[in-house]
Amino acid sequence: MNTLKVELGSRSYPILIGDGLLAQSELLRQHVPAHDALIVSNTTVAPLYLDTLLAGLRPRRMVEAILPDGESHKTLTNVARILDVLVANRFGRDCTVIALGGGVVGDMAGFAAACYQRGVSYVQIPTTLLSQVDSSVGGKTGVNHPGGKNLIGAFHQPVVVLADTSTLASLPARELRAGLAEVIKYGLICDATFFAWLEAHMDELLAGDPTALAHVIRRSCEIKAEIVARDEREQGDRALLNLGHTFGHAIESATGYTQWLHGEAIGAGLLMAATMSRECGLMTVEAAERVRTLLERANLPTRIDAVQPESALELMRIDKKVQGGRIRLVLMRKIGEAFMTADYSTDALDRTLREHFGPARE
Ligand code: NAD
Ligand code: GLY
Repeated sequence: MNTLKVELGSRSYPILIGDGLLAQSELLRQHVPAHDALIVSNTTVAPLYLDTLLAGLRPRRMVEAILPDGESHKTLTNVARILDVLVANRFGRDCTVIALGGGVVGDMAGFAAACYQRGVSYVQIPTTLLSQVDSSVGGKTGVNHPGGKNLIGAFHQPVVVLADTSTLASLPARELRAGLAEVIKYGLICDATFFAWLEAHMDELLAGDPTALAHVIRRSCEIKAEIVARDEREQGDRALLNLGHTFGHAIESATGYTQWLHGEAIGAGLLMAATMSRECGLMTVEAAERVRTLLERANLPTRIDAVQPESALELMRIDKKVQGGRIRLVLMRKIGEAFMTADYSTDALDRTLREHFGPARE
């Protein structure tokens, strides 16, 4: 087992990464001391892992909130359902909410924990690659609004993240690939060596090789933990973790959160950020091609025919990084060096959107 730490003073917490953690009842009992625990999961994950978790946590008072599966269910209505269960069971401030599932479950359970009685503790048990490398760490919680992605939420840190890598064995291949997009993101932001490692080991990752996956989960969590410790509330460096997200959120929003997986949209967004960086004269043509090649090798989609560039631009304006009407973008000087800027040519953005959105041109 690997143990990392998110250093946030009195709110610091461990990230435990290992094979078979869910079956280790001593470990679970140690990290979930509360007597009253609400487990939040969904209709896909609960049948796979809920019994193991319940067995490991007995003899606590445990109740469950099993939500419908999918990004389109990441709503205030479902957070209200979680809160209803907490109230109906008269859970007090000393209860713990446990998120068992991917990023959708984790974001909603964390938000409910942030709201209930002005904040109770919660545990992240991420079961997708994406949630093990990204969403379970850092305390961003929340839901989507019909007007935009993740527009409603709160910062609320978990007390522990338990990433059981054996749960990835049941993950559909498409979901694994979507998680790889967020992994590639870390290399692009700040670690060119890690990016090169991904180029060398992409085939093992796609084949679900446990050693290769454990390596990328550990390295991704290390990078994220370090950035969150420096800038918990996204006043500075944490915004770099949004590389590709302004483009990606526009894809998700334009397609109603149903056709593209979040990680797929972020993957396409990473390439758009590379194209934009190239169009701005920052990144070399060769480096932008390396980004394209790695995303394509991960079998991630890289263009979106069904949405026009003009519509994409409108959706990008709803992004949380817009300041004074100007869309701020995370761009790259090179692989491993990202930065945030509002100082770019709108022509370059226009060319970027035309390259990736709308029917392909000859
Ligand atoms: P997800 O939660 O929808 O999970 C993907 C699918 O895999 C779902 O159908 C789920 O039921 C299924 N699944 C989960 N674990 C499984 C397993 N072990 N075996 C079989 N099936 C399993 O999606 P995701 O990619 O995990 O997360 C995406 C969400 O995370 C988005 O809403 C995104 O906004 C959010 N996110 C949040 C942060 C953050 O910092 N809070 C960061 C990145 C992404
Ligand atoms: N996924 C972006 C962040 O956690 O800040």
